[in-house]
Amino acid sequence: MSETSSRNWVERDAAVVWHGFTQMAAYAGNAPLVIERAEGRELIDADGRRYLDAISSLWVNTLGHRVPELDAALAAQAARVAHSTMLGNGNTVVVELAEALAGVVPVDDPHFLFAGDGAVAVEQALKIAFQYWVNRGVPGRTAFLALGDAYHGDTIGALSLGDGGVFSAVFEPLCFPVVRTPGYADPGWAGKACAAIDARAGELAAVALEPLVQGASGMLCASAADVRRIGEACRRAGVLLICDEVATGFGRTGTLFASEQCGLRPDLLCLGKGITGGYLAMSATVASGEVYGAFLGDDLGPATFYHGHSYGGNALAAAVALEHLRLIESLDVLTNVQARADQLATLLGERVAGRAVVRAIRQRGLMVGIELAPPEPGLRWGRRVCAGAVSRGVLLRPLGDVVVLMPPLTITEGEVLRMVDALDGALDEVTGR
Ligand SMILES: Cc1ncc(COP(=O)(O)O)c(C=O)c1O
Repeated sequence: MSETSSRNWVERDAAVVWHGFTQMAAYAGNAPLVIERAEGRELIDADGRRYLDAISSLWVNTLGHRVPELDAALAAQAARVAHSTMLGNGNTVVVELAEALAGVVPVDDPHFLFAGDGAVAVEQALKIAFQYWVNRGVPGRTAFLALGDAYHGDTIGALSLGDGGVFSAVFEPLCFPVVRTPGYADPGWAGKACAAIDARAGELAAVALEPLVQGASGMLCASAADVRRIGEACRRAGVLLICDEVATGFGRTGTLFASEQCGLRPDLLCLGKGITGGYLAMSATVASGEVYGAFLGDDLGPATFYHGHSYGGNALAAAVALEHLRLIESLDVLTNVQARADQLATLLGERVAGRAVVRAIRQRGLMVGIELAPPEPGLRWGRRVCAGAVSRGVLLRPLGDVVVLMPPLTITEGEVLRMVDALDGALDEVTGR
């Protein structure tokens, strides 16, 4: 294919597609990739150029692209039924998926409410937590505690839990207030959150957090022991705990769920992104038996959870998610995450950490944030370093001046090296040696 092919696609794209989190007036000028196909962990653009997908297509991909077993599961399900509604009716493959997930999620007696996106899993958790107290006849439990630097998605409820920032400031008048205590960047965050939970227990419906890693705020990390303290404080105070594992779930931090490392058994667990290995839009809110039980009552009665989405529990997504869960086990993916995370930590330590232009490297498993330290504002180092990596065949996307590395969990030793080589070269190019 010719060079004009990609340019032509960018023009057609910019004429009709509106890209999220993207200034469309600048889109075409920022050398976007237009992907046509993929092989393994590489994306291939319309000109045939190959890029290692080192951000897992925005943190969703786990096993790479075009995994034969996932492709086969998708095709087999398509030959049965692509979708049937979950409102008041069931679907066999969704039942099988829920049964399989029930065996691995860190939730007691789990029940699954499926949806399409991570933000929706969070919205559902918020509404379930709110109505839980109403159904139990406990007045006043209407507030939520969330952390500084939190990100839970872009719908209004999820934005309310999130800690705002320049991108969402315009929507502040639409958001509901929450009790906010500091995030993982504050070494005393856990003590402050526990104190607030103790002091305001009677007002709180739930506490929401991203266990171990606050991803979108630049991979801010907490110790497992600190996160565990929040779970204990919630139990003591009788406040529900919502763990948002949309980003950390399905192996990213080295265990299937980050909550496991923290010894947490949340009342509500939010899943998304990697649930289908990055194939199809699916999310789930997982409720404990105790929470679920509070919604049982008369048919058409007020205890019912009146909430649902057209594509919640999509059968194609469920079939892929079910096969994906089997593959995580049979391919021993978590062992690879540990080995590649160790390799990556060593390489970053040797080749990146000592640079004066790097303020910090934060890592849990294969979630990595490299915070750059530009000498003055406005240099857009994050954006430029990632562009430098892309020109070297490794797809990266920053969060401000934090370069994110979040490769598929099946990444090989050679590909880890390729990723660090590209980063190393891009850092030299943009920040000087
Ligand atoms: C922790 C967390 N929660 C929720 C979301 C929102 O998920 P989605 O983009 O699928 O709506 C994200 C997305 O990055 C996330 O990192």
